[in-house]
Amino acid sequence: MAASSRAEAASHSSHDGESYDRYELAYDVLDGLTRPFKELSSRFLYDKRGAELFDRILGLPEYYQGRAEMEILRQQGTLIMSFAEPDELVDVGAGSGVKTKTLLEAAGRTSGLRYFPVDKSLAMLRQCIQQMERDLPDLAVAPVQADFDSFDGSVPAPTRETKRLVTMFGGTLGNLLPGSRLRFWRKLAALAGPRGTLLLGVDLLNEDPQVTEAAYDDAAGVTSAFNKNLLQVINDRLEADFDVAAFDHLVIFDDANGWIEMRLRARHRCRVQIGLLDRSVQFEPGEEIRTEVSAKYSQQDFEREASWAGMQVRKWLTDSASQFALPLLTAGR
Ligand SMILES: C[S@@+](CC[C@H](N)C(=O)[O-])C[C@H]1O[C@@H](n2cnc3c(N)ncnc32)[C@H](O)[C@@H]1O
Repeated sequence: MAASSRAEAASHSSHDGESYDRYELAYDVLDGLTRPFKELSSRFLYDKRGAELFDRILGLPEYYQGRAEMEILRQQGTLIMSFAEPDELVDVGAGSGVKTKTLLEAAGRTSGLRYFPVDKSLAMLRQCIQQMERDLPDLAVAPVQADFDSFDGSVPAPTRETKRLVTMFGGTLGNLLPGSRLRFWRKLAALAGPRGTLLLGVDLLNEDPQVTEAAYDDAAGVTSAFNKNLLQVINDRLEADFDVAAFDHLVIFDDANGWIEMRLRARHRCRVQIGLLDRSVQFEPGEEIRTEVSAKYSQQDFEREASWAGMQVRKWLTDSASQFALPLLTAGR
């Protein structure tokens, strides 16, 4: 098939229920795999299988983040909702919506509330809609399938009167690289509007990096399967031929940057063909691909980052072991 007609045919096709443009993924993959240190974007980790694996990760004994965040939401749900008094809730990177559901159940508040779950993954959004219809039938749900880069037009801009709570759970903000993160802070502040509140999931720096590393390298191998699934997504969507079994899951704590990295390491030399782009990429033995960063914060570092966007932490809520925080922020210095 000629390149142009092929591009047209592929651009609107869907796989596994995901409806985004395959070329968007293809160009990202090509950029990432031709860098001096190879990299793939974590935003494509959540296809149907990725979504199922992430659900399992939330229940893993090593993944303290999920439990800690739920503990705060259960215990502080009423306080959070009385502080924000929202009539709209925008959940950025909503996933299955389980954290929001826990918050609303803890506070006993759904009526009169408009809920906008925003996520790139259709698989995740479907789980979210089903869960809310089943467990919180009074909630008005307006799902938005969009990338963090492009959801601006899909969620209505806040007016002077809007009281909006913007949530970003699961430490997802920490998955952005530092410059993108600072840019995104400004977007979050604009999304909340002048009378809005931000509630952000923050994974705290642990004195023992091994605890953090174990959270991304569990004994049952679920996170390893989640990470390797990214290669399968590329195989399925881009007609690529990664031998997934020829890559090992790797977790590294980068002290200088204060983040965890997930990587995939090639066991031996191989050449991977990306059929959709008619290109191939070479891997040397032991060569690594970075697939996710996940920043870990001190309270001071987090507050400094927030101040770049003119946001101030009003309440710093943590779990009983002080491993995770859910700060409430509003505009102002
Ligand atoms: C770590 S999960 C958190 C899910 C949920 N908030 C929770 O805490 O359980 C990150 C979520 O953000 C979504 N996501 C990641 N990158 C994205 C992007 N660039 N644009 C839109 N959604 C994205 C993923 O599909 C996934 O559902």
